[in-house]
Amino acid sequence: MEKPFRRRDLLGIRGLSAAEIKGILDTAENFCEISTREVKKVPALRGKTVINLFFEASTRTRTSFELAAKRLSADAVNISVSSSSVTKGETLLDTAMNLDAMAPDCIVVRHSSAGVPHQLAKVSKAAIVNAGDGANEHPTQALLDAMTIREHKKTIAGLSVAIVGDILHSRVARSNIHLLTKLGANVRVAGPRTLVPDDFQYLVDHDLQVCPHIEDAIVGADVVMILRIQRERQDAAYFPSLREYAIHYGLTNERLDLAKKDAIVLHPGPMNRGIEISSDVADSSRSLILDQVKYGVAVRMAVLYLATGGSTIS
Ligand code: CP
Repeated sequence: MEKPFRRRDLLGIRGLSAAEIKGILDTAENFCEISTREVKKVPALRGKTVINLFFEASTRTRTSFELAAKRLSADAVNISVSSSSVTKGETLLDTAMNLDAMAPDCIVVRHSSAGVPHQLAKVSKAAIVNAGDGANEHPTQALLDAMTIREHKKTIAGLSVAIVGDILHSRVARSNIHLLTKLGANVRVAGPRTLVPDDFQYLVDHDLQVCPHIEDAIVGADVVMILRIQRERQDAAYFPSLREYAIHYGLTNERLDLAKKDAIVLHPGPMNRGIEISSDVADSSRSLILDQVKYGVAVRMAVLYLATGGSTIS
């Protein structure tokens, strides 16, 4: 039988085929049930070691990778960069090679610079999983978003998905654009012109619609994905003020009413309530933001399982 995911590393969605993506999602669906058990543990990764190496802050991704490893019975180690020898000037590659010398099976890495997971993959014997690299990719976020959409809409092909906000700095947007277009969704993006370059379509190499107004992206959409304003990656004033951003680009119930009646709302978190999304929308029945977090554990279980040698489960 074909094994749709044959890789050691998960560095991004860009290089994956639709079959590989579906293989990861199918495997994640199979792992979902484990988190509903009273004893949330299976022995699938007993004896394996997973290191979480996060150079940037994280609540959802780091916790869910740790829980995913533990629910599969792997030994999970979290490196806090602020108390590691990075603070003494150790380089990224020296840090990675020293961790590698302790024979982990997988290193999950988040870094503010694009391409860091790719660099580590060249020197590490462990599988490298990208937990977000700068504005480049956040592959497990796109996978958990896809799983959330699949669970609620049954399929992704043919859906209209609006991605709204800070497209320029968003690794979530890039990974989602790769994934959703590969699986046959119609993707529209919108945001301030400074955050959605005219040539964005060519930058990501996919067919997508760049809309001049967020209303154009949202009208008739099945899925509305709102992005966080990435203030930590903005070295210039891309819009006059947060208040004006909220007025012109925030997702309110009025704007959401332009989407299909059964449209769902996604946000990767952390949310800036009252800026890119109103609390009314974030807390409404159309919001699946906490479902995304729930499916994040199953997706990361699947990714760790496959990266350490498991075969896809369908
Ligand atoms: N969505 C996401 O990556 O959240 P964290 O930064 O909390 O991990």
